[in-house]
Amino acid sequence: MGKRRIFLTSALPYANGAIHLGHLVEYIQTDIWVRFQRMQGHEVHYCCADDTHGTPIMLRAEQDGVTPEALIARVHEEHKRDFAGFHVEFDNYYSTHSPENRELAYEFYRKLDGAGMIERRPIEQYFDPVRNLFLPDRFIKGECPKCGARDQYGDACEACGATYAPTDLKNPYSAISGAKPVKKQSEHFFFKLGNSTDFLKRWTRGVGTLQPEAANKLDEWFKAGLADWDISRDAPYFGFEIPGAPGKYFYVWLDAPIGYFASFRNLCARNNIDFAEFTDAVKSRDAGTEMIHFIGKDILYFHALFWPAMLERAGFRTPTHIHAHGFLTVNGEKMSKSRGTFITAESYLKQGLNPEWLRYYYATKLGPTMEDIDLRLDDFVARVNSDLVGKYVNIASRAARFLTDHFQGAIDVAAARQSSDPLIEGARTEGVLVGSESYDPRAFGKGIRHVMELADRINKAFDGARPWELAKDPARAKELHEICSRAIHGFYVMSILLAPILPNLAARVARDLFGMKRDFVWDDLNTIPKRIGPYKHLMTRVDAKQIAALVEANKESLQPVPPPHSQQRHAEHQAHVTKKTEGPVSTQAPPSPLPPAPGGEGKSSSASTLLTIDDFNKVDLRIARIVNAEQVEGADKLLKLTLDVGGVTKTVFAGIKTAYDPGKLNGRLTVVVANLAPRKMKFGVSEGMVLAASGDGPGLFLLSPDSGAEPGMRVK
Ligand code: MSP
Ligand code: ZN
Repeated sequence: MGKRRIFLTSALPYANGAIHLGHLVEYIQTDIWVRFQRMQGHEVHYCCADDTHGTPIMLRAEQDGVTPEALIARVHEEHKRDFAGFHVEFDNYYSTHSPENRELAYEFYRKLDGAGMIERRPIEQYFDPVRNLFLPDRFIKGECPKCGARDQYGDACEACGATYAPTDLKNPYSAISGAKPVKKQSEHFFFKLGNSTDFLKRWTRGVGTLQPEAANKLDEWFKAGLADWDISRDAPYFGFEIPGAPGKYFYVWLDAPIGYFASFRNLCARNNIDFAEFTDAVKSRDAGTEMIHFIGKDILYFHALFWPAMLERAGFRTPTHIHAHGFLTVNGEKMSKSRGTFITAESYLKQGLNPEWLRYYYATKLGPTMEDIDLRLDDFVARVNSDLVGKYVNIASRAARFLTDHFQGAIDVAAARQSSDPLIEGARTEGVLVGSESYDPRAFGKGIRHVMELADRINKAFDGARPWELAKDPARAKELHEICSRAIHGFYVMSILLAPILPNLAARVARDLFGMKRDFVWDDLNTIPKRIGPYKHLMTRVDAKQIAALVEANKESLQPVPPPHSQQRHAEHQAHVTKKTEGPVSTQAPPSPLPPAPGGEGKSSSASTLLTIDDFNKVDLRIARIVNAEQVEGADKLLKLTLDVGGVTKTVFAGIKTAYDPGKLNGRLTVVVANLAPRKMKFGVSEGMVLAASGDGPGLFLLSPDSGAEPGMRVK
């Protein structure tokens, strides 16, 4: 085959969260594939970026007390660090909040509008009257219209699985402010996806464009009919304003895939690559270039419908292949914060775990389908220790020692070349089995099985020759030399085959052990090295204790959440104010994890240490309006309160259920400790504490101010 020229991407991770082991399934998978293609001599431009726009990022920045620009800049550095830590090597890691992306988004928009693909019409949506913004579906909660379950999102019920529109929810409330949303009209821009139905039907049936399961999924969508796609959002929004439409922004998913192009255009400008040869409909056909997207199955809809339709209508090339992968489960279940299986890339590396262990394990699990992949932690330890270290690395450490000690590192090339020997039988054809038949079609697990079979053959022949006995008999030096030369050649072959998966290890093998001045390429399978350098330690085994510590480190407990960035400035005060002293009883439940003050938990009458006025002033007491009070499913004592503290919204879980009917609390004023460390509880994060009095007998009495007090006023 001639030289392939490929522009390739992984999905752009959102800029409001850390990279976790789920994400890494995708980036590691893509990186392995890229490295394999490069080892074959193909030209690959691997581009990615942060996906920086949208309401969640805007709100997250606000919560952190920073501008969205500052948030995405910080996350950008974190993401780059995490990817580098796992040897995921992009040619460009860029941002959708870039001049290139703005320009390209405008270009797409102009072309689509010119092609009659954009329509404007008013729609009615839920609006948060407290925060003055339209609510995305995920930010509207309420009772499921079907089963009545509380606190369900605006698109689907997690209790009964029903799907519906947010306007179907009973007793809806804004998940941002807790306010009751109102319906409001606004003009929106729509992309008329239905106009592209015929094109998409043809495109999805292109040979090799989609995996068969993905094509089937598309057929279902075609049957349901392709609805117009709402591509605009109203201010306030973090994104690109639509040209000629003040206050209207492109929906994040419009400019996100365009971000692939933006990242690539930025790279092209720096490295003198012809952007049009890879992206223009006509020029890319003439040049025979490919455009390939690796994505998770959850975003197939965007990549296999909207994106190709946009591309085609705007005169760009369409994707050559879309490779969708499944989702990561850990120990057979969805990643979970409480079980400690929601593991961030950063914490994995911080525990001192080797990133190549994970790359190897994922590779053993990855196939060409959209099936989910399971990280079984005990299996992870077993695979790495018994296969990677026990079978593969072990060969080098054993054979190299004899070669160095007895033959000054020289390899008996003639012996290694005897291809009839079962030891290296097929070592070269292995290159085809592993490369073209496994890695190229993304059947990494199959490729590794071939490599491990080879390892088994080599280990068997090596052990069968009993080199430790040969070494004792100078008359049998030739035999010793032969078996060790074959074994080390086998190790050399395996190292080339595993290089896309273990790039760091393979680079050390090439340079330190085989004295090469460069990394391995696939063609090295056809040569036999002549000598080795002294063996240096290559890889340790995983200690199961390290995995236990990793899970422990990722477990979310009832401890106060570490103060996020905005709360940093309050952090130094918190230790003082959470300690209970005389005064109103804490109604925040469960009890503070700090030791109770002398006099016993919750008892208000006992003597306690005297405070200075400065001590007291550290407590930020504020008037708050209860804008919403509701039951908490599964909690006997708690009510979930949404408080308006003068424009700032706080959620507080208060242990007042026995004394108050939530319906009667709506609208009333009370007093809240506003600078209490947020506390992660079973039901959510509690961001403060409302004050109530109680005595030894029953009864619990919320404080209220005299009339005239307003939410946000300081109590002092
Ligand atoms: N920002 C969008 C993608 C825009 S592409 C133009 C997005 N971001 S994401 O951060 O949620 O996910 C990034 C990629 O990681 C997606 O392909 C997604 O499928 C993948 N994964 C995220 N969590 C995952 C697992 N738990 N398991 C496997 N892949 C996962 O979607
Ligand atoms: Zn339901």
